[in-house]
Amino acid sequence: MLLNLENLPRTIWVEKSGGVPAVGFVDQRLLPGELILVRTSDWREVVDAVKTLAVRGAPAIGVAGAAAVMLAAYEYAVAEGDARLAAQRDCEESIVSAGESDRATFDDRLEEAARVIAEARPTAVNLSWGVRRAQEAARAARAAGKTAAETAEALYELAEALIAEDEAVNRRIGAHGAALLRELADKLDMERGAPGASHDRGGDAPLRSGASARQQGLNILTHCNAGSLATAFYGTALGVVYAAAQEGIINRVFADETRPVNQGARLTVWELARAGVPVTLQCDDMAASLMAEGQVDAIIVGADRIAASGDAANKVGTLGLAIMARYFRIPFYVAAPKSTIDCTTKSGADIPIEERDHAEVLAEPILGVAVRNPAFDVTPYELITAIVTEDGVWNPLES
Ligand code: MRU
Repeated sequence: MLLNLENLPRTIWVEKSGGVPAVGFVDQRLLPGELILVRTSDWREVVDAVKTLAVRGAPAIGVAGAAAVMLAAYEYAVAEGDARLAAQRDCEESIVSAGESDRATFDDRLEEAARVIAEARPTAVNLSWGVRRAQEAARAARAAGKTAAETAEALYELAEALIAEDEAVNRRIGAHGAALLRELADKLDMERGAPGASHDRGGDAPLRSGASARQQGLNILTHCNAGSLATAFYGTALGVVYAAAQEGIINRVFADETRPVNQGARLTVWELARAGVPVTLQCDDMAASLMAEGQVDAIIVGADRIAASGDAANKVGTLGLAIMARYFRIPFYVAAPKSTIDCTTKSGADIPIEERDHAEVLAEPILGVAVRNPAFDVTPYELITAIVTEDGVWNPLES
């Protein structure tokens, strides 16, 4: 399989044009029909992009959070008449030296913007993590006696660093996950006896015949999009797929369509096809029968928040897959950066679950019909085979 990761766009980035900073992102609402890149210097538009799922996926919204605070810092640095930034923008007549009271106003406004940004979506802890990283950098800049404009520049550098860090972290998750899949392929081959023998997982699962798992590659089921589009680049669950595909141990990915907004049908299949990974789209309801047919070797999903107990919130529907995986004795992996682990949240029951607009489920309201639209559900740790992070498998009982 020829992997073409260069065909994938960067999901979110920062740039400067004539000294004016901007956040750029792929508008994921328009995929797969149109690949539109948006640029904005207004932090409120970044908040809007997060709320409306133009930018989505836990690590991507973490980066978006930090980048939005950066844009707010530039805006308020100019508003407070910071001399250096105003000069950069050729507004010399408006130059006023930033005094102590200006700096205090800047800090207050930035804190307020950070609060609004962090509240754009409640479940993925990466958003508040990214915002907090920016707040810490702003406070450190203040403690070091930096001006508002210098603080904004420090936040720009932080946003660049977080974007690079995200890709590096994802590649490490991918390497650790691929090692687990290698072990799985060897284990399946052992269970089969010799290459070419039937594939018997025990229980009631029917057999799948074929070449050895190592030769043929594994069939992976995934839900939602925990790919490059959900991160700055490369992906978490799909990062594992990319790393394993590079080693030749992926046969095919089955992508759940992931109702109601179809991140699987619109984003995961688009991304995998572009990257050159064989992919089959299926409606969510097919997962059980696919597993019953013995077509699924492993399930890999991402996470939006992992509690101290190891319980993991991910796109609604994930819990059902984990329960089915247990029944069919299929390994169920969660791939996520450590920034998704929130040790201040004790267990899955404490994870706030976002309830989204009911129109996503029922476009035209019907009199007398109630609708539920929770975006996420929580999978208890006992159903998870391994949580794969950039540092390897994370065991909540050991931390
Ligand atoms: O509502 P979304 O599209 O932001 O939900 C995304 C998911 O549930 C992903 O699986 C999760 O954020 C992990 S992304 C690496």
